[in-house]
Amino acid sequence: MSLKEPVLCKRIPTQPWGNPKDRKIITYDQYVKTGGYEALDKALGMEPAQIVDLVKDSQLRGRGGAGFPCGLKWTFLPEPDGGRRYLCVNADEAEPGTFKDRLLIDYDPHLVLEGIAIACYACQLDTAYFFIRGEYRHQAQVVENAIQEAYEKGIFGDKGLMGGKSKFKVECYLHRSAGAYICGEETGLIEAIEGKRAWPRIKPPFPAVEGLFGRPTIVNNVETLAALGPIVEQGAEWFKKMGCESSIKGPPSFGPKLMGVSGHVNTPGVYECDLGIPLSTLVNEYAGGMRGGKKFKGAIAGGISMGILGPDQFDAEMDFDIGKKYNVMGLGTACPTIFDEDTDMVAVARNIARFFKNESCGQCTPCREGAQWIYKLLCRIERGDATSKDLDLLLEIAGSMGIMPGTTICGLADGNNWAVRTIVNKYREEFEARVRPSCVAVGMTVGTS
Ligand SMILES: Cc1cc2nc3c(=O)[nH]c(=O)nc-3n(C[C@H](O)[C@H](O)[C@H](O)COP(=O)(O)O)c2cc1C
Ligand code: SF4
Repeated sequence: MSLKEPVLCKRIPTQPWGNPKDRKIITYDQYVKTGGYEALDKALGMEPAQIVDLVKDSQLRGRGGAGFPCGLKWTFLPEPDGGRRYLCVNADEAEPGTFKDRLLIDYDPHLVLEGIAIACYACQLDTAYFFIRGEYRHQAQVVENAIQEAYEKGIFGDKGLMGGKSKFKVECYLHRSAGAYICGEETGLIEAIEGKRAWPRIKPPFPAVEGLFGRPTIVNNVETLAALGPIVEQGAEWFKKMGCESSIKGPPSFGPKLMGVSGHVNTPGVYECDLGIPLSTLVNEYAGGMRGGKKFKGAIAGGISMGILGPDQFDAEMDFDIGKKYNVMGLGTACPTIFDEDTDMVAVARNIARFFKNESCGQCTPCREGAQWIYKLLCRIERGDATSKDLDLLLEIAGSMGIMPGTTICGLADGNNWAVRTIVNKYREEFEARVRPSCVAVGMTVGTS
């Protein structure tokens, strides 16, 4: 198996990294031998603005969850004024069910570092912080070693990018997270790098204008950055041949995407697919089909904050339209967790609610208190102690928390909101079978939670 092209240049899932059993970290020398850092070399021969235009033209959308157009975000930066400008690499990856960035870091760290160097040059950012999930100890070591190699080879450091090919100097540091889901929210991440508690900031100002240490900052996901080298090397048209146009007259979903499949499938793993692949194809042709030949019951769309695809949505296309078309929040990280026919959806909802109640940072009352109440109500429903009024109350609380209803600072509460509401609404009978009519049970439920 050749290690030649980085994964994002290939159309075969994860094959450039070789067979999982004998996969090894691709070192600097191996990476260079197989064409690595040629994209950076090419980029440094272009004007920074040309690279921004190329990325805009490719219509690359952020791979961290929100799908925001990468090139457009870069244009929000003010003109350089001689002061510091930052890139924050978001490798927090704490969304349950999501493990795609880990694979990129594990096996192809220089693909990500090359993307970092390209982004820094294009946006004229002189300092990059690689912010990595606290639990990713092994991966942190891999990144640390790769950064050291890159410095030794002159990619970063004093001489300027690529040993002085460009006079523009970039410093790159690893920063390990203390370990909390909220550290992945871009302004929480910025606060954490500043050495503070990872409390998300009210926006505006957006990080591009006033970010890390009050300076212009771009926050990009690992996979977004990993796509830059291949785009520079092979062009925007190449990238746009993969993926799909929007079927609802929205922005397109171009390019390949790493999709991590977990849950009740035969071969869970990370697969590289075109955006737009039906979930059923991803499960049956990539992830080995449903475990034990069981029936599909539902799937977390792409990280638990996106909500759930119901039993009749197995053919949902995995692209950025998925939210509007299938009543989930969005594609998120495109890492679905699959449930078979035996799954207790009330238990799934309770488990998800437990996560959000533990991870709310506590700044906003609707999120902090709402998350506690949602969890308590779901425990009550699961135990069989709830009434139908509790079910209504659950939906009311969930529906009122989040940025979208305008009651919270960040999107963690929206994640809780969508996860709970979509599960209850799409599996309503299962929840109703566990509650008693409110008139019979009012007296009986007092003091049960
Ligand atoms: C609660 C919460 C957690 C998040 N966690 C991550 C994460 O672990 N990794 C990530 O890339 N983006 C995460 N995001 C999204 C980031 O705020 C941000 O949109 C993203 O890093 C931008 O990168 P992109 O444009 O390349 O996708 C999170 C958002 C929220 C609200
Ligand atoms: S929505 Fe929740 S996690 Fe986000 S800032 Fe408010 S309390 Fe913190």
